[in-house]
Amino acid sequence: FNVPALRNEPVRNYAPGSAERADLKMAIKKARSVVTEIPQYIGGEEIYSQNRQKISPPHDHSHVLGYFHEGDKTHVQRAIEVALDAAKSWSVMKWEQRAAIFLKAADLIAGPFRAEINAATMLGQSKNAYQAEIDSACELIDFLRMNVNFMHEIYGQQPVSSDGVWNRMEYRPLEGFIFAVTPFNFTAIAGNLPAAPAMMGNVVIWKPAFTQVYAAHVIMNVFRQAGLPAGVINMILADGPIAGDVIFKHPDFAGIHFTGSTRVFQTIWKRIGENIGSYKTFPRIVGETGGKDFVLAHQSADPKALATGLVRGAFEYQGQKCSAASRAYIPSNLWEQVKEYMLEDLAEIRMGGVEDFTNFVNAVIDEKAFDKITAYIDAAGKSADAQIIAGGASDKSTGYFVQPTIIEAFKTDYITLCEEIFGPVLTVYVYDADKFEEIIPVIDKTSPYALTGAVFAQDRYAIQYATEKLVNAAGNFYINDKPTGAVVGQQPFGGARASGTNDKAGSVLNLLRWVSPRVIKETL
Ligand code: NAD
Ligand code: ALA
Repeated sequence: FNVPALRNEPVRNYAPGSAERADLKMAIKKARSVVTEIPQYIGGEEIYSQNRQKISPPHDHSHVLGYFHEGDKTHVQRAIEVALDAAKSWSVMKWEQRAAIFLKAADLIAGPFRAEINAATMLGQSKNAYQAEIDSACELIDFLRMNVNFMHEIYGQQPVSSDGVWNRMEYRPLEGFIFAVTPFNFTAIAGNLPAAPAMMGNVVIWKPAFTQVYAAHVIMNVFRQAGLPAGVINMILADGPIAGDVIFKHPDFAGIHFTGSTRVFQTIWKRIGENIGSYKTFPRIVGETGGKDFVLAHQSADPKALATGLVRGAFEYQGQKCSAASRAYIPSNLWEQVKEYMLEDLAEIRMGGVEDFTNFVNAVIDEKAFDKITAYIDAAGKSADAQIIAGGASDKSTGYFVQPTIIEAFKTDYITLCEEIFGPVLTVYVYDADKFEEIIPVIDKTSPYALTGAVFAQDRYAIQYATEKLVNAAGNFYINDKPTGAVVGQQPFGGARASGTNDKAGSVLNLLRWVSPRVIKETL
């Protein structure tokens, strides 16, 4: 079996006048012209519960994209039964056969489904064309293809044999089923979290966020068209705690592949802990969670590159990336210049619906997010410890729009320097340019998270110093670049502390969590 070469899918730029842009516009138009009914997928069946929940674009309350059919505990129970039944054949299927299905899925997304999956992400999650292209189509294609290489690598790892003894290792799937739980913000994560355990021979119950169902439905169709046997990945649309109540009490629960907030992951971990004596096997607990990602600038930094990195890192996809730059520590010698560049950039940024490709900023995901984000902004506007230096306006009358906002904080423990906001809000703290060494422990200690971080400097000693002293502050650390946009295979992604178990999605490390090796010693 000759695995395909490791390569990233080329990113399309949807330039004005291009055929790609015309295709995508057509897919958006088509999606907007129908009302889609989205079922649960349990076994080979589409389940329409008739408990219909409306899906509207976050940027356009007046439009209805469709309805999803919400599930309940009986659907979750049924999904577990069919998954366990499917495991009998799937767990013994040759790995090359499994790989072929996911390679085909990657090709379908790269080709005939590309516009549909991007349009669904754009409309359902309010994401502009470029952001959808990188983190729905390309990143998911990369996850699926590269994981085939990593499977190959894992299965090739065999123990040493000796005279008269032949040792071998069987990489068995886990005994039971895996629960994949996905967040709203990345369509690629939605596809990868169920796919990675399934590739390693496991059966999966997948629960996408309700705010992601519109794109999740397209992914499920891709898997089916690629030939994934019924019951291997089952998409249930029950509320998280309702699904969890059935799943975490089930003796065959063998692991969770989660991405979402730290708070929800902690709740899940507690539920698993409460039931730990009832499982057949210790479950694998894999979770990538929140972030409070920092940008540290040294007095030698290039102010223009820094300003560009901050604007892109903080405001692309409305700051709703776990990796988003949300706190920046800028030396006093650079601040006025960096501020001027950022304000110039912000003046150019347009905000509105995704249908107009010139809009850089679209809406935040829902009303709960809008209210949470604007509460932080309003409080900063009234605080003596902070001031709003850009943005601050918001409007939810037609869609959930929050203007990209920059807050300058005067205390290092100001709330927006410490808590994850998950919106287009960047907080800056200006430090005395001679006190670079003193600001580093502040960055390390003022937030519990450790997902991404960046240092901007031209002075090599400063780069080395920050890299060493911030060793535990980020799982992905960037030098002279924004802290977002990790590429599968190039920057395996994940953080520690309150940011997760750091099992690096899209790498051998992640796939290893979904196998339970058996060693066989044969005396010859
Ligand atoms: P969320 O935690 O609200 O929801 C995540 C998923 O958990 C959803 O599918 C939700 O329905 C489900 N859920 C909620 N309660 C549950 C329960 N009791 N049992 C089982 N499932 C339950 O997160 P979100 O708002 O969808 O996404 C944003 C969060 O995700 C942010 O905190 C962000 O930092 C994080 N995130 C992290 C990464 C990473 O790689 N570290 C990537 C993307 C997003
Ligand atoms: N892969 C995403 C990023 O790095 C999470 O922004």
